[in-house]
Amino acid sequence: MKTLLYPRLTAPLLVSLSEQDCRGSEDNQGVNIRCKKTQTDPTPVCSICRPEISLPLHLKSSGSDMSGELSLSTGADSLRETGATPGIYDLKMQIGNCTFVEPHAVRLFNQIPAEYTFCLLTDFHLYPPYTSFPFGLSVAHVRKCLAQAMQLRPEFLLFCGDVSSLIFFYPWSVAAMRRLLIEEVSCPVFFVPGNHDGYLFRLAGLTWWDGWVYWQQHLGPLYQSFDFGQDHFIGLNTFDWQPARRNIFSRAEFLTFRFRLGAFISDEQIRWLERDISEARKREQRIFFFLHHSPLHSQFFRPNGQTLKGTWEGTNRERVLELICESHAVAVFCGHQHYTAMETWEGIPFFLTASSASYNEPGFDYAFKKITIRNGVLASVETIPFQI
Ligand SMILES: [Fe+2]
Ligand SMILES: [Fe+2]
Repeated sequence: MKTLLYPRLTAPLLVSLSEQDCRGSEDNQGVNIRCKKTQTDPTPVCSICRPEISLPLHLKSSGSDMSGELSLSTGADSLRETGATPGIYDLKMQIGNCTFVEPHAVRLFNQIPAEYTFCLLTDFHLYPPYTSFPFGLSVAHVRKCLAQAMQLRPEFLLFCGDVSSLIFFYPWSVAAMRRLLIEEVSCPVFFVPGNHDGYLFRLAGLTWWDGWVYWQQHLGPLYQSFDFGQDHFIGLNTFDWQPARRNIFSRAEFLTFRFRLGAFISDEQIRWLERDISEARKREQRIFFFLHHSPLHSQFFRPNGQTLKGTWEGTNRERVLELICESHAVAVFCGHQHYTAMETWEGIPFFLTASSASYNEPGFDYAFKKITIRNGVLASVETIPFQI
């Protein structure tokens, strides 16, 4: 079974109708990629005639990753000549007899405005209706939250991890999240996972559940970056532990019910991050980060001053901070701690965002953020409370 990693529902491709700023150009015979306007217009706007626009796609097959450039062509001199209009589109890909459709994977737009707004959401901790374990939000709560965010007419949504609550709900929760995004959201969404999304259940030599498998099948890649005009957004996977360390059935952790909560970023992801920052700096882009665990802390800190283990347990915390600093980041957006706060480090603001407050304590209100960027700087950061 093959899983397309990019572009995906939570890692969509943004295509400027005026600039056609897609990357690369290769002729790939026998591959047919189509963008179909979502819901309203079933007519394909693009079909392969000759390669003019190229989509960087990543095909993952069992055990090995294949990366390559697959071509998307309009058969016209420009996308605009095809009659394509700004909007969000499904990606349809046919290889031989196999058809792959990814909803909302392509966004066509006219021009990136100098001032734009996006919403930052995090830590839904979806729990299914058949459980009496209300850790986080129900489908109805998340639907309401997404609808409220869409009323603000954001250009896109960022999500900083913890879609799920318990590992045993993964088959349901990531599929439910996918359905909610398709039904409720009409702008691009960019997701990174949290610790609650990445646990693994391995017993008797068999892997029964692996959060990363569900995540990549239903949502998209584990880390990514994208451009919005001159602004470059980097989303990191901060629960990048080796499988053995994500296993909830590892002896010590299972027996003590102290599952791993904290962050770890592998050397492989660091190398990707170094390359990504270097390329963005060459393009003189302004850089923003979104990730689950704040690298400022090796421990949870809470409004009452209490600290708990579990924010950054693994390596590369300092290296991530160095890279954030070297990139001259405009801002860093984090989740995980379930409340709203801002800290500054080396002049860079780090924002924590509440959403699914599971503690039922003062200071842990349900909220998301509305962020406005003007000419590459933070014009405003508002905390928008929502009631459940
Ligand atoms: Fe969380
Ligand atoms: Fe978390």
